[in-house]
Amino acid sequence: MKKSLLLFSICLFFIATTWGQAGSIGIMPYPQSLIIKEGQFVFPTTTHLNYIGNKSILIEKAIARFSKKYKQYSLKNIVVDQRNNPNIQIEWVKEKNTDVKSKEGYTLSIDDHVTIKAFTEIGILNALESLAQLLNAYSQGAVLQKMEIQDWPSFPWRGMMVDVARHFIPLDMMKRNVDAMAAVKYNILHLHLSDDEGFRIESKKYPRLHQQGSKGEYYTQAEMLDLIAYCKDRGIVVYPEFDLPGHSQSWFAGYPDLAAEKKEYHPGLRFTVPGDKPMSLMTLMQLAKSSATPTIDPSKETTYTFLDGLLKEMKGIFGSGGYVHMGLDENNGVAWQKNPAIVKFMQTKGIKTTHGLQTYFANRFSNIIEKNGYQPLAWEEAFDSSVSKNILIQLWRPGFMGTPLTPEEIANQGNKSISSRGFYLDVFMPAYYHYLNDDFTKFNISPNLLGGESAIWGELMDASNFETRVWPRAAVIAERLWSDKNRIEVSSMYERMFKLNRYLSWNGLNQINNSARAISEFLNGYSNPGTEALIKVLAPVKGYKRIMAIMTKPEVLKTSAFGEMADIIPIDAEAKWQFRKQVENYLDNPSEANTALVTNTLLLWKNCATDVNELLLNAPKLISIRKHAENLSNIANLLLAYLPQKNETDKAVLLKQITMAKSTINEVDLAVVEELEALVNGRFKELDRSISLF
Ligand code: ACM
Repeated sequence: MKKSLLLFSICLFFIATTWGQAGSIGIMPYPQSLIIKEGQFVFPTTTHLNYIGNKSILIEKAIARFSKKYKQYSLKNIVVDQRNNPNIQIEWVKEKNTDVKSKEGYTLSIDDHVTIKAFTEIGILNALESLAQLLNAYSQGAVLQKMEIQDWPSFPWRGMMVDVARHFIPLDMMKRNVDAMAAVKYNILHLHLSDDEGFRIESKKYPRLHQQGSKGEYYTQAEMLDLIAYCKDRGIVVYPEFDLPGHSQSWFAGYPDLAAEKKEYHPGLRFTVPGDKPMSLMTLMQLAKSSATPTIDPSKETTYTFLDGLLKEMKGIFGSGGYVHMGLDENNGVAWQKNPAIVKFMQTKGIKTTHGLQTYFANRFSNIIEKNGYQPLAWEEAFDSSVSKNILIQLWRPGFMGTPLTPEEIANQGNKSISSRGFYLDVFMPAYYHYLNDDFTKFNISPNLLGGESAIWGELMDASNFETRVWPRAAVIAERLWSDKNRIEVSSMYERMFKLNRYLSWNGLNQINNSARAISEFLNGYSNPGTEALIKVLAPVKGYKRIMAIMTKPEVLKTSAFGEMADIIPIDAEAKWQFRKQVENYLDNPSEANTALVTNTLLLWKNCATDVNELLLNAPKLISIRKHAENLSNIANLLLAYLPQKNETDKAVLLKQITMAKSTINEVDLAVVEELEALVNGRFKELDRSISLF
């Protein structure tokens, strides 16, 4: 008994020290096994790199990208040659191994030289991405801590879904996004290419799809081929989603005969928000449920001929063997019920419900997909007992929409699944919410769950804020899909995430620059320290509240451009997590140094109301966050007086003020209320994971 207790303690100690170190090793996703060794390896002025193994264009290109990054950090050169005792040796070990570990895994040893080994080209690519991150973390003079990494993915499917239909994302921006994806070992890019608001790929066979369905914003076939090749070089597979039978208004602009309801169509919202008055959430949901939203006609053979023609054409672009996503989400069936020919069709076929008709459509569409050499994939609404077992099911619906479907239930019917539940980036949740996703951290995960996808829907983003909305949180989801589910350490994760954020920015991603530029525009080019400090601790309201605010205010909907504070600031305020660390240290040990750090931050915040007021004349948009400035100043002032004395009466006043400061104002929250509250109470509450979506 005692012995096992001792063993348990040793294990705990080991886990604790490994986790403790994790924060200081700047790498994301965190490797499955990383052992720190004594000493450091200093790269020489000219680094010799030797690649052993069969010729591989993919690896040669990856080495060239790595060398470019290395030069950027260290101003030193890499020479690729066959010299003995190279500084970096890369070996593609040919073996017929097909398990997940060896398909993408690698070993990376940093000793008196760097050795990389992998069974596949992709493994080598992954190792080079890890090495580049590590070099960046220890950039000065290209010095690396000696260590031994053995790494492999937990899940084979690590995707990102990007909605380019609501707002178009141009090719160069998508390529930057792909570079960032490769850096954190995503291997799948799911492009949501069509929705009510846009059809975003050129079709030569049915040209009115992109001509009349995209307002001129679409990928030409040449551009898509370019993007696919770019992704392939980085170990990423691209697959398209053609979302049907609902979400299809843009198709009908050019091909109205495909629609269940005969009328004129233009790309745009799938139901009209009537009147000019703000609407309640209930009214809006009712409207979505009861409107005859644009839906394809599943009763006509010509529909299937059309889809077959489109998929045949797309084979020339996406190749075959991969996946095609059919959508199948959020179809309320109303447009079908309103069409007598469709109702008759259902009777003839003995189909009792519109859901049954959707299953009929799903099976027809998936047959066409398979006939054309692809594999079918659909959102979870497609799932029922009579849908084809070949359809991979993508979970997404959170609990509030009824009991959530599970990978186990799907597996019981013989289908495989992936999940985006808890991975929606457009819901503005902090990174820890994604990181702690129960579906991917619980003890027993169905082997039929192949992995997951982060997902960014496009209602609240366009090219101006796409990168800021996706990164750095997408990296945390990549870590959840790659790393050991038992290694959960939120503060290390945040430390590494913000490090990675800067790394991605140095490598060309515009997530930090775009936010800074938009904030400068918001401030009309003016600034002062208090205002800057305030903006750094703001965050958009969590959940769907920002989109609801836009949807339920028709006047905003008409003019919406993403220039309000809620649209331009990062979801996770780095200054919040830095302050949290200060407060944790102070509560642990209120030493002079720890007290001074907290006090200095409070002194900065104390002035933010005065500073914001000073700028108001020149930067009038600041009015939307003035109340937050007043709250923060007020609380900082009170805390500066409270902390040395800890007077009970002051405490009550403070807690009341903090409760008031929790209010969302213009869809913006003060992100440091939990930390302020902890300073008063002397302890932190658990991180909130039951954040309401509405
Ligand atoms: C979805 O979010 N409608 C898949």
